[in-house]
Amino acid sequence: MCGIVAYIGKKQAYPILIKGLRRLEYRGYDSAGVALLNGELNVFKRKGKVKELENFVEGKNLDATVGIGHTRWATHGKPDDINAHPHSSGNGRISLIHNGIIENYAVLKTLLEKEGHTFVSETDTEVLVHLIEEYQNRENLPIEEAVRMALKKVVGAYAIVVMDKQDPDKLVAARKASPLVIGIGEDDFFIGSDATPIIEYTNKVVYLNDEEIAVITKDGDLQIKTIGNVEHTPFVEHVEMEIEMLEKGGYDYFMLKEIYQQPATIADCMRGRLNAEEGWVFLGGVEEHSNRIINADRIIIAACGTSWHAGLIAEYLIEDLARIPVEVEYASELRYRNPIITEKDIVIALSQSGETADTMAALELSKEKGALTYGIVNVVGSSIARFTDAGSYIHAGPEIGVASTKAFTGQVTLLTMLALSLAHKRGTISKSYFQQLVNEMENIPAKVEKLLKVNPQIEFIAGEIKDATNALYLGRGYNFPIALEGALKLKEISYIHAEGYPAAEMKHGPIALIDENMPVIVIATNKSAYEKIVSNIQEVKARKGMVIAIVTEGDKVIGKIADYTIEIPDTDEPLTPLLSVIPLQLLSYHIAVMRECNVDQPRNLAKSVTVE
Ligand code: G6P
Repeated sequence: MCGIVAYIGKKQAYPILIKGLRRLEYRGYDSAGVALLNGELNVFKRKGKVKELENFVEGKNLDATVGIGHTRWATHGKPDDINAHPHSSGNGRISLIHNGIIENYAVLKTLLEKEGHTFVSETDTEVLVHLIEEYQNRENLPIEEAVRMALKKVVGAYAIVVMDKQDPDKLVAARKASPLVIGIGEDDFFIGSDATPIIEYTNKVVYLNDEEIAVITKDGDLQIKTIGNVEHTPFVEHVEMEIEMLEKGGYDYFMLKEIYQQPATIADCMRGRLNAEEGWVFLGGVEEHSNRIINADRIIIAACGTSWHAGLIAEYLIEDLARIPVEVEYASELRYRNPIITEKDIVIALSQSGETADTMAALELSKEKGALTYGIVNVVGSSIARFTDAGSYIHAGPEIGVASTKAFTGQVTLLTMLALSLAHKRGTISKSYFQQLVNEMENIPAKVEKLLKVNPQIEFIAGEIKDATNALYLGRGYNFPIALEGALKLKEISYIHAEGYPAAEMKHGPIALIDENMPVIVIATNKSAYEKIVSNIQEVKARKGMVIAIVTEGDKVIGKIADYTIEIPDTDEPLTPLLSVIPLQLLSYHIAVMRECNVDQPRNLAKSVTVE
């Protein structure tokens, strides 16, 4: 949510900033802006995507070796040129970019107005830059001290980078609850909301911690101190990321690339953690807490969006196989509802980005209450990954399409391994069933590969339903969360209203909506409740609904009733979600393309939601 990039060194800053902004655009695309320092402080900003900014600056003097850039997901103030970042102090001396929310901005604004400050935007960010200016003026402080004093007064979340025209060889960066990474080059520094704008220049990075302020100078100095004025030694880490991971690689959209990567990403997630030949599953990141987990009273899963759907699948998996009670909570609800959490609970946070503000807050609360916190995360070095007591990365690689696909199957793969490992340790499934499931897990990547071949058929079906205004997704058991996820994917990228429902619940409401204009997508692969789901399909057909059924290869019954069937390879029921979600991802992708929607950057959404 909002992308930040900055550069200081000997190279031209603008090309680095603009390229960085394009990489960070997944975090927000309401407006984009840069500030360049070269004797003068020049700020260019534009409503809309980074491309609009590029067009706007054409022909302008962009010569500078120090600069900051921002791509915005609007919170305070509508998306327009004025509310776009960077924001400047009243005297035009300081320029600042910000990701997060200054919660007490209204109080600060009133105080500053009394001191004579006038504001041009509706943003909380502008208040912060004026506050820094106020400290600088009042006490004639160097910029880093003025920033430190101002941040002491701020309530909320921030990642900021600040430039001062009168101190032109310096950048000041700080963070609290919003991510910030500093890249250390040969003789220069890069700053980013994540490593993606940096990786092309260096893989040496320092992740800033909460309430740390970094002062970076053109002559190669990096100093970190806390808001409380305690010096910290920078901890330099190496990021493993290849530049190709950040490119579309011949696909029209990142989302399609990411759907097609799933055979590889699922295999990567299992590598070194599951071995069918030797019959074991081993999750290194939680092993030392193994006793506590197998003896837990309860597992609570906190997540948002697609990750929450992966959590629901984990509830089925862990309760079914390992017989530990599981509760799945929207992180935003968990954190504010005075939950009962004890030291006998395990709280698992599921998050692709590892930065979702609500998920992070739910974890903080859980830790305070004594629970063991366990993060299942994709982005290496992210806040959740660093905060939790135990953790497992899903190793899906950078996911850039805003609608999550490969991260979802990565989460489900990891959670399946967790359920298997707990079941094995607790003795809640037979050795032979454990071995059967472990064997089948190893087959999943090849089955996904095979399944992707149905793409042309799905494209055809997409053409048949692309003009619908509503859609219903139905599933039972392990496929109920997949129905929710299928509906979410369609909503997110094609703007068709869609609902996911447990198939049997259809009778209690949604059935009233069914007519010939309502496509009903039924995930009908369940062996355990097959007849029931066939009846549900009959009920839809009796009301003239159009049924698209996802069935198991070789199904002879449903093809005769449904309008369209899509076959998926046969597998054990607990592993079905890893296959049944794939056609739904492709279906929403094709519908969105046919409706000429921006698949990778759907309106109003952002990939990493670092505000509440
Ligand atoms: C946003 C994204 C979703 C994602 C959700 C949770 O809404 O658009 O794709 O599922 O946040 O994000 P997380 O990074 O915590 O999984």
